[in-house]
Formats: sequence, structure tokens, C-alpha cells
Amino acid sequence: MTDAARLQKRIDDLARIGGSGTSVSRLGLTALEQQARDLVAGWCKDAGATVRRDAAGNLYARFAGNDQGAPVVLVGSHIDSVPEGGRFDGALGVCCAAEALVSLTEASVKFARPVELVAWADEEGARFGVGLFGSAAAFGKLPEGAAELKDKGGVSVAEALRALGESGDPTKAARDPKGIRAYLELHIEQGPRLERAGKALGVVSDIVGIYHGRVTVRGRQDHAGATVMGARKDALVGASELIRALELIAALIPDAVGTVGEIAVRPGAKNVVPGECVFSLDIRAPKQESIDLVREGFNDAVADVTGRRGLEISIETLQTVAVTPLDEGIRDLLLSASQAVGVDAPLLVSGAGHDAQNPSLSGVPTGMIFVRSTGGSHTPSEFAATADAALGAEALERAIRELAAG
Ligand code: GLV
Ligand code: MN
Ligand code: MN
Repeated sequence: MTDAARLQKRIDDLARIGGSGTSVSRLGLTALEQQARDLVAGWCKDAGATVRRDAAGNLYARFAGNDQGAPVVLVGSHIDSVPEGGRFDGALGVCCAAEALVSLTEASVKFARPVELVAWADEEGARFGVGLFGSAAAFGKLPEGAAELKDKGGVSVAEALRALGESGDPTKAARDPKGIRAYLELHIEQGPRLERAGKALGVVSDIVGIYHGRVTVRGRQDHAGATVMGARKDALVGASELIRALELIAALIPDAVGTVGEIAVRPGAKNVVPGECVFSLDIRAPKQESIDLVREGFNDAVADVTGRRGLEISIETLQTVAVTPLDEGIRDLLLSASQAVGVDAPLLVSGAGHDAQNPSLSGVPTGMIFVRSTGGSHTPSEFAATADAALGAEALERAIRELAAG
């Protein structure tokens, strides 16, 4: 039986790592993420689990089953955050998984097959640009050359991993999906639908597809006072036209969203016409055709701005994640587990990306529970109530028990 006060303490203790007030900045593959892993590892070791870290920085805590060779039930989420993010995104799933497994252990429940808690590394991709990093590595889905990607300070993924004591080759984290009976992930909803429906829990039916890219606009660096307006090739003004075009195009396609969240201008001085501007692209939709339509519209805008402004513009694809339907059997199990804790959980499509996409796209039966959250997400105001989180942990506990039984 989930202990709500202990669950809240886990959430609070984890939030202190990289935390300030309700804001959390705990980027992936950093010393802070490692501190978070150590905290979670300690909870699991105290309950008798065997813990290990893999070559991508993922933490696994194994709770034994009668048949040690049987495919495992894997349950978890991620422990990194975006810069100035909240206390619950990812962290809640790891805290609830730990609480469910510790409470099953305390109740002396014997598993027929092993159950592993996982805390995935660097889900947000905020430092190196590739999201779902740890789970992509575990399922052989890392983009080519991921180890060579560099952060703003010039440190590569390989170097960051070596600083944690790993070899620097994250592809070594790959595991056989056939060795996994099922993957479960609890996560905050990060949107308003459960709150509006007055429900504490939801069950995810599908997860959106994602396109991540980087646009480089090259113009001509020049003097801000001496260069007349008609003689400029301003990279930032060209970029701003494209950013606005993305907003307009995405708004025309039902269910699609398009975001520019990162931008860098060179050389970056108030009296210099910008010579270069690099910005990120994040395009998502529940249907691949919708993502393709937004990309096509954006490419047309690039051709238009290039021609009109005499700029050089290139688009680099950083990562694509396919639209992901989740397993119907696990979905039904999570719906009945939610019923058993008194919640008539609605089915929801997730607009956020999740580590669950990698096991699911690798053939592992996968399911997700959403816990009602308020205050938005990827912001310090993100919030989930203790009572809702405890209901989620309790439903997760029931689902684990069922899946680990045979
Ligand atoms: C992760 O939070 C994502 O959806 O980008
Ligand atoms: Mn997130
Ligand atoms: Mn998340």
C-alpha cells in the first residue's frame, strides 16, 4: 500500500537536487543528474534491490523474481529536467515507481519475474540537443554521431559520460527488447485535460510524433550605424520571419504544434547587424502526415525568405520520433488498475514526448498512466497534488503486481 507521506518526501528530496524554490534545473548527463540517481539508487538498495548504471547513464534497480531468467517488467521515467523546469516532470514517475516497488517489497509480495525500476538519463535533451537520450540508447535508437554532440561549453556527450565514469560510448547501453515483458511509465499530464475532466488519473492511448531540427540563417555581419536599411543581409530579421511563419503554418494544421525555443545570434552585439542566427525547430502532431505538412510549409517559407532577403539558410534534422500507439492490453490493465483505486480514467493522447516511445517502437508492450497536473509544465509552476500522485502510485503498484505475477 502506497505511503503518501513517504512519496511526498521522495518528491521533495529529489526536487532539492538542482532545485531553488519550486524551480528545478537538473540537466541530463551532469553531476546533478548523477546525484539524483544516487538518491534513487539508495531508496531501492534499502529495499533489497541490486542497482547498476549503464553506458548511457541510465539507472536500473532490480527487484528479484522467482525466475531470474524471465523477461523483466520495467517501470520508471526520467530524472533530468529542462532549465528552470518544475519538480514533477519525469521525477514523479521515478518517485512513484520507487514507492510502488518498496511498498510491494514491504508487503512481502513475491514476483514470478524480476521487476526493474529505471531512471532514464537525459530525457529532455536540454544540454546536447537529443531528447529521450537514455531510452534511445537502451533500445538502439540513438541518432548517428550522438556521442560527438557538444553542449554550449564545447563538452561532448562522450566526455560527459566519461566524467561519470563510463566509457563514453552510449551505444553500449543497448539491451535486448525481448528480455522485457512490459514497460510502464507514470508521468504528470503536463496539460489541462484531467483537471478539466475532474479526474486524478488518465491512461495514454498514443504519443505524438516529434521532429527536432536546427535552422542556420547566414547573412552579412555589418555596422549597425553605417549600413543603410536597403543594403543589409540581417540574419536575425530573416530568422524572425521564419519563426512567425512556423507559428502561422502550425496553427493551420489541426493538432499540430510548432515551437522555436532556442535561438543564438552572432556575433551578438547591439551595434552589429547580425551575420548568423541559429534556432531550434520542434514540430509535433499525433499524425505523421500533419508533421510532414508543417515541415513542407516551413520549407516553402525558407525558400521565400532566402530569395527575398539574399540569405543562406540550411535546416539540419537532429532527431525524429515516430507517432507511437501504446499497447492495448497494457492500456486495459492500467484502466482497470485505475478503476480499482476509484478513478474512472479517460484515455488521452500525449502531446509531450516520453521515454515510453522507445520501448514501444521496439516491440515492448508499453503503457503510461498520467497524473493530473496544474500550472503548466516545463515551468516552476508545474504541480501535482500528493493525493493524486499517491493514487497514481497505487494504480502502478497494482499493474506491476499483475504483470510480474506470470
Ligand atoms: C519532453 O518533455 C518533451 O516532450 O519534449
Ligand atoms: Mn519534459
Ligand atoms: Mn517528461
